[in-house]
Amino acid sequence: MPNNNTLSDNPPFFDVVSQVRAMRRLKPDLVPLATIRKVLEAGVQAPSGQNTQPWAFLLIHSPEEKRWFQERYANAIETRFGGFDRLKEDDTSSLARQMRAVKYQCDHMHESPMILLVAGKRDWPFKVAQEDRVGLAPPNYGAVYPCVQNILLACRSLGLGAALTTMHQVFEDDLHVHFKIPESYGVVVSMPIGWPMGNFGPVTRKPAAGVTYFDSWDNTDPGNWA
Ligand SMILES: Cc1cc2nc3c(=O)[nH]c(=O)nc-3n(C[C@H](O)[C@H](O)[C@H](O)COP(=O)(O)O)c2cc1C
Repeated sequence: MPNNNTLSDNPPFFDVVSQVRAMRRLKPDLVPLATIRKVLEAGVQAPSGQNTQPWAFLLIHSPEEKRWFQERYANAIETRFGGFDRLKEDDTSSLARQMRAVKYQCDHMHESPMILLVAGKRDWPFKVAQEDRVGLAPPNYGAVYPCVQNILLACRSLGLGAALTTMHQVFEDDLHVHFKIPESYGVVVSMPIGWPMGNFGPVTRKPAAGVTYFDSWDNTDPGNWA
């Protein structure tokens, strides 16, 4: 059910886009499938090369399957990321806060109402010459990420929390077998979705002015860049 994080029925885009934070602490409360469908319909409005729409979704929502995913995800985080035991209780740095949230997420992922996997059809980028196309092509990241960002925007608009994660890569082979995902797709993003425990807030990002150049990489000042 919506909470006080909902902006309004029709939130202004610029408010929404500046509040799409990784929400890693989620309530177990039900999210109606109709609401998730609305979110996914926003996802599929994304652009893709030649409008090929190479995305596909797998919604993990049964308790056993969420647990299966969580156990492997937590193990992947511990082995590839780790360091949680070295976190000092009084450390309030943003890195420490993020690590605590990541730890919470991997310990409680199965309690979120659902885990969304976003897969992309495999496709060689143009720059890889025919003769160099050996093995499996990568999933079409360029098309999947706009879809994923639309999903994040839609979640925020509806007051749903979501967090983009990629650590499933560590056990992607198992994912394919367990969930019968065809080899022609790669799983790009895994995203627990649910009503957030905390409040949404503004993201922390460098201003665009610090990463924008005019005509040449050595020119950051067009003169009237307010
Ligand atoms: C390509 C990509 C991969 C990411 N992978 C993970 C991940 O595996 N686990 C995770 O907790 N967050 C992951 N994130 C989320 C980022 O950590 C997060 O967006 C960033 O730290 C900014 O935090 P904020 O969104 O709360 O402002 C990923 C984000 C992107 C764009």
